[in-house]
Amino acid sequence: MALDSPAISPRTSPLPEGAFPSVRMRRLRGSASLRRMLRETSLAVDDFILPLFVDHNISGPEPIPSMPGVNRLTVELAAEEAQAASELGIPAVLLFGLPETKDAVGSGAYAADGIVQRAARAIKTACPELVLIGDVCLCEYTSHGHCGVIQDGGVDNDRTLELLAATAVSQAEAGFDIVAPSDMMDGRVGAIRRALDAAGYPDRLIMAYSAKFASGFYGPFREAADSTPQFGDRRTYQMDPPNAREAMREIELDVREGADLVMVKPALAYMDLIARARARFDLPLVAYNVSGEFAMVKAAAANGWIDEKRIVYEILTGIRRAGADLIITYHAKDAARWLREGSI
Ligand code: PBG
Repeated sequence: MALDSPAISPRTSPLPEGAFPSVRMRRLRGSASLRRMLRETSLAVDDFILPLFVDHNISGPEPIPSMPGVNRLTVELAAEEAQAASELGIPAVLLFGLPETKDAVGSGAYAADGIVQRAARAIKTACPELVLIGDVCLCEYTSHGHCGVIQDGGVDNDRTLELLAATAVSQAEAGFDIVAPSDMMDGRVGAIRRALDAAGYPDRLIMAYSAKFASGFYGPFREAADSTPQFGDRRTYQMDPPNAREAMREIELDVREGADLVMVKPALAYMDLIARARARFDLPLVAYNVSGEFAMVKAAAANGWIDEKRIVYEILTGIRRAGADLIITYHAKDAARWLREGSI
């Protein structure tokens, strides 16, 4: 056919279906309002949980060097910080405690007047509507820094369950709405559910750290919580990073034992597992944007290498896009402020 034939004139020839030039994806991005309308994933302050560190042995805020802007707090300061978070619209805080003294069985974790129990009472008084979540683990409370009782050089799973259950009950007594076991012992969700029900707390939720990996990303947290194991590491109880199918089994077991919410932790190197868990389970799904992930952003931003606000927006939105309903993040207060002022 001749080139000048009207049959193939660009004006009259039919457009190819479903492709350029009839389809121009850039039409979808032409203005800020269009982009706002067409956003598939939302990020809201309702999605955030703010972790707080409460320390028995301090009298004022103690900055955590590897986590700029995050402090260890006294009970009074924790109540103030919880109040500030609540005023920003953050619905929940997650408490970690540093006890007065540590011992082999982590007694401080389940003491009626333990540090997080005291902080919980102070926060409930200051801010009754805030959802209080207690991290249930022994590592901040044991002299050896492991998440359970040591027997013959290793962590004894079944003996540890009783102490975790006692910790959960003492947190419920102190007013925690949700208990969050982060130890990775087998059977702890069931043990905690039974203990809470028996103690008269069938209304308290369990947020299980179901797929929690033995990760280098917890480094700054261990500095903050003084919970580095004194010998060995956590690889016999926390998961091996390459394993995805095993992560689904861990979640499945926690669901069967009575978890109300399940978690993948850390978040960024495990986004595939957030997506898989979302596809497979209908429970609320939580992702923990952990201390090392926070520290990397802060360090790069402090050097002027990245734009912190943009990076935090992409990270938090990415975790939501992968399928998490809720994000535990040290960025929560900043992100809440940025969302409020409309700058992210
Ligand atoms: C306690 C616990 C840890 C974190 C949450 N709960 C540390 C660990 O397992 O070593 C890590 C949180 C973070 O890095 O922000 N077991």
